[in-house]
Amino acid sequence: MTDARPGFRFFAHALDRAAIEAAYARWAPVYDLIFSNLLGPGRIAVAAIASRADGRILDVGVGTGLELPMFRKSARVVAVDLSEPMLKRAAGRVARQGLAQVAGLARMDASRLAFPDSSFACVVAPYLLTVAPSPEDTLDEFARVVRPGGEIVLVNHVSSPDGPFFALESFIGERVASLLGWRVQFPWSIIGDWIDSRPDMRLIDRRVLPPLGLFTLTRVERLATSGDGAHPPTLGDRMPLERV
Ligand SMILES: C[S@@+](CC[C@H](N)C(=O)[O-])C[C@H]1O[C@@H](n2cnc3c(N)ncnc32)[C@H](O)[C@@H]1O
Repeated sequence: MTDARPGFRFFAHALDRAAIEAAYARWAPVYDLIFSNLLGPGRIAVAAIASRADGRILDVGVGTGLELPMFRKSARVVAVDLSEPMLKRAAGRVARQGLAQVAGLARMDASRLAFPDSSFACVVAPYLLTVAPSPEDTLDEFARVVRPGGEIVLVNHVSSPDGPFFALESFIGERVASLLGWRVQFPWSIIGDWIDSRPDMRLIDRRVLPPLGLFTLTRVERLATSGDGAHPPTLGDRMPLERV
């Protein structure tokens, strides 16, 4: 069966589960050394927003667990990832640091979450969406497991169609995606079109993060009442981008 959504067509064959697992088995031993500081601002922002949620938090694509100590101590965080070697490191961190806020760690595919509908107050995915095999299916799962009135908080690279990195990203493109374990190009329309296709979802914030504005924080609310299509299209491209 084919999916008519533009983002799905664009990325359908870019990365698959086996390529991701192989890539993160390679990254696991050196991940913290390379990405601890570089991706720090997004993790801090995500954890601060999620820590205000009144209820359980789901962290999808937790990796080695670098964001776990950043959630408030009284939070209840369930964290999942596809990669066993990455999760092992997260489990080690939880044990070493005595992270009481971590209620559970599990191996799970973001596009097939083993949780009932509406079971979390907040779903966070720091640096996952450019990695997940199908971003739209993954977002659909987030929308299913977050409760009405709850929030989805994303941080990921969003390609600028004309910024200084565009030529470089176009050149590298998908040639190295499976080697790196993430897509180099990720247009905003993947997220924006998904939100616009969902009357039960509303974009509440979109802002650029350091370093160099390479990453974007996106906050999406699942409307408390079931959507009737009455809210205006979110059209994230028109939302002014703030730098934090
Ligand atoms: C770039 S790392 C981000 C890790 C962590 N959130 C951080 O901020 O450092 C992406 C993680 O997503 C995981 N991942 C990729 N695809 C996934 C999927 N479909 N389901 C669950 N986890 C996935 C990878 O195994 C990897 O650990």
